[in-house]
Amino acid sequence: MERCPRRTRRHDPAGTAAHAGRATAQLTAAELFVFRCAECHGTQGEGTAEAPPLNDFLVLPPEFIESQVRSGPENMSAFTEAEISAEQLTLLSAHIQAEIAGTNLVSVDEDQLEQGRQLWRDFCMECHGARGQGKNDFGPPLNVWPPYSVTGIIDGARLPLPDMPVLSVTDDELRLIAAFMHSWAANSIAE
Ligand code: HEC
Ligand code: HEC
Repeated sequence: MERCPRRTRRHDPAGTAAHAGRATAQLTAAELFVFRCAECHGTQGEGTAEAPPLNDFLVLPPEFIESQVRSGPENMSAFTEAEISAEQLTLLSAHIQAEIAGTNLVSVDEDQLEQGRQLWRDFCMECHGARGQGKNDFGPPLNVWPPYSVTGIIDGARLPLPDMPVLSVTDDELRLIAAFMHSWAANSIAE
């Protein structure tokens, strides 16, 4: 099997993008991720100081990835069709879902899931509802799609809120809470 030695370009995305058009059209989805996304999100999607991890989402639906890539959230520039074609983006999204999303999720047994549920009741339910549906005036719905990443849940729970002392939950407890929150989404995927 013949393959051209395009790997050498991977670590110079900005410099080569302009004249690498033909070559990038031939990149596999995995190579495209390294070429276009790894600089900020890490080669395994583990995140860097520049950008959040993508491997601690339960799912990353293609529409969500595509909207991020095309619109460019804060601190992430948008990619045009010339840089990533529609066809490549479809392959890239499938790759991210299959190989990256969820690879850093806490796996919990029944007991830990129950602990997560208990912690949720103690610390979060009052404002966000029993199953994250939200409560007017207290807290927004958290049973959103795509589900919050673990990082997003930890950061969200650590947001300073005006009328409330900082929650005394540890990161490990928040990971159990995250696993419980992901069980809502897992159920809705199964439905
Ligand atoms: C220049 C750095 C940079 C590059 C390159 C980059 N991103 Fe991002 N990305 C970011 C930043 C920063 C955020 C967080 C934005 C925010 O906080 O609103 C982000 C957010 C995201 C999110 C949402 C994650 C979340 O936690 O909400 C997705 C999905 C994403 N990027 C996918 C991609 C894909 C796919 C690529 C490659 C095609 C890519 N990004 C390339 C910097 C980058
Ligand atoms: C006293 C009420 C209250 C409690 C208790 C509370 N939250 Fe929140 N939470 C809020 C409010 C209000 C916001 C919206 C804050 C904002 O947008 O600035 C919020 C936002 C969030 C967000 C979304 C952040 C974002 O960027 O969209 C997450 C995730 C979150 N909370 C998780 C938790 C978790 C997990 C717990 C339990 C450990 C918890 N919260 C406990 C009131 C609460």
